[in-house]
Amino acid sequence: MKILILGGDGYLGWPTAMNLSAHGHEVAVLDNYLRRKLATEEESGPLYDLPELAERCRLWQAHSGKEITSYIGDLCDWDFVAGVFQTFTPEAVVHYAEQPSAPYSMLRRSAATLTINNNLLATANTIFAVRAFCPDAHIVKLGTMGEYGTPNIDIEEGWLDVEHKGRKHKFLYPRQAGSLYHTTKVMDTDLLWFYVRMWDLRVTDLMQGPVYGMMTDENEGQPDLYPHFAYDEIFGTVLNRFVVQAVANYPLTVYGKGGQTRGYLNIKDTLNCIRLSVETPADAGELRIFNQFVETFSVNDLAGRVKSAGEQLGLDVEIKSIDNPRKEMEEHYYNPAHTGLLDLGLEPHFLTEEVLQGIFAVVLQHKDRISDDCIFRGVKWSRTG
Ligand SMILES: NC(=O)c1ccc[n+]([C@@H]2O[C@H](COP(=O)([O-])OP(=O)(O)OC[C@H]3O[C@@H](n4cnc5c(N)ncnc54)[C@H](O)[C@@H]3O)[C@@H](O)[C@H]2O)c1
Repeated sequence: MKILILGGDGYLGWPTAMNLSAHGHEVAVLDNYLRRKLATEEESGPLYDLPELAERCRLWQAHSGKEITSYIGDLCDWDFVAGVFQTFTPEAVVHYAEQPSAPYSMLRRSAATLTINNNLLATANTIFAVRAFCPDAHIVKLGTMGEYGTPNIDIEEGWLDVEHKGRKHKFLYPRQAGSLYHTTKVMDTDLLWFYVRMWDLRVTDLMQGPVYGMMTDENEGQPDLYPHFAYDEIFGTVLNRFVVQAVANYPLTVYGKGGQTRGYLNIKDTLNCIRLSVETPADAGELRIFNQFVETFSVNDLAGRVKSAGEQLGLDVEIKSIDNPRKEMEEHYYNPAHTGLLDLGLEPHFLTEEVLQGIFAVVLQHKDRISDDCIFRGVKWSRTG
């Protein structure tokens, strides 16, 4: 298939591009380096430097013999988007290209409005480009489990059958996000659902949990092909951050009671979920929603596992509860369904000691790059933050 990956320079976009290319698809990537720019502005450098997209595509071709095309530009710029879709005419579009950080979206007014403008316009332009240039293409959109929040009832896979005063109807599962970033994802889902109903688009919306790791089948032994790896409070995901904190001898930053529970997945599972979704498209007029994670952990569980794996490597790892800068429940019910992707054939990778030690090994090689200053800044969710 011809697959266009929006956000192809990102943590997940680049490994996805290589994975789909390795599986025989014709792949193009699009990115405007927004993520690199914001990280530089916030002094949140990655653990290691990486080449830009054209160079990554050259390295991939030298390694695999396969070609990936790159387009550099802004999804919010309609003329650019129209040009790319007209030229490449994808059969599937994987849409990762958003401002993906909850703390960034809560930093200040300008960061909040950038997040709203960027994420909603990127999604709207994607929808309009598909309608104009490839109306039968399947949009695979990255949402987040954070769209649901932490309700005191079981979380279903996207939809809820409601019975009210003796009548029944199926609705999108109620969503109550816990950050502005997550709220833009809720709005994206509403936009997609609206245009699925209006224009019979084919859409899969993946409610993904936090991802960890950097190694995939395609980049083994090829550090130049690793994805970027953020470890700071603003752009890093929690397990990746904890491993770096353990290596830097920085007490693991558990927020409050540490009972916050979420569904997690290895980056290898992200790639498999995307490929399974792309290769089994949604029907025309269908908004298909999958909950994309493989196991749930509390923050305390994760900290305990990182401490144990670090100690096996001879590191002295401390866990410290700090005042929670976020507004969230620290102990709560959490029981989300996640059978859709397993039914499509997903074979999960679980968080074993061996997997953790693999991440530790890469982080240890870059220990000198870790800056304690960006590990914790305490971006506050409160009105006075
Ligand atoms: N990483 C996770 O744990 C996780 C969990 C759940 C959901 N997600 C979602 O998955 C997607 C990818 O996440 P990621 O961690 O790879 O983020 P990332 O920031 O590394 O990648 C997103 C990429 O999109 C690009 N981008 C953003 N706006 C753009 C625009 N207007 N035009 C062109 N390119 C643009 C960025 O430059 C970046 O390279 C995001 O939508 C995120 O919300 C990620």
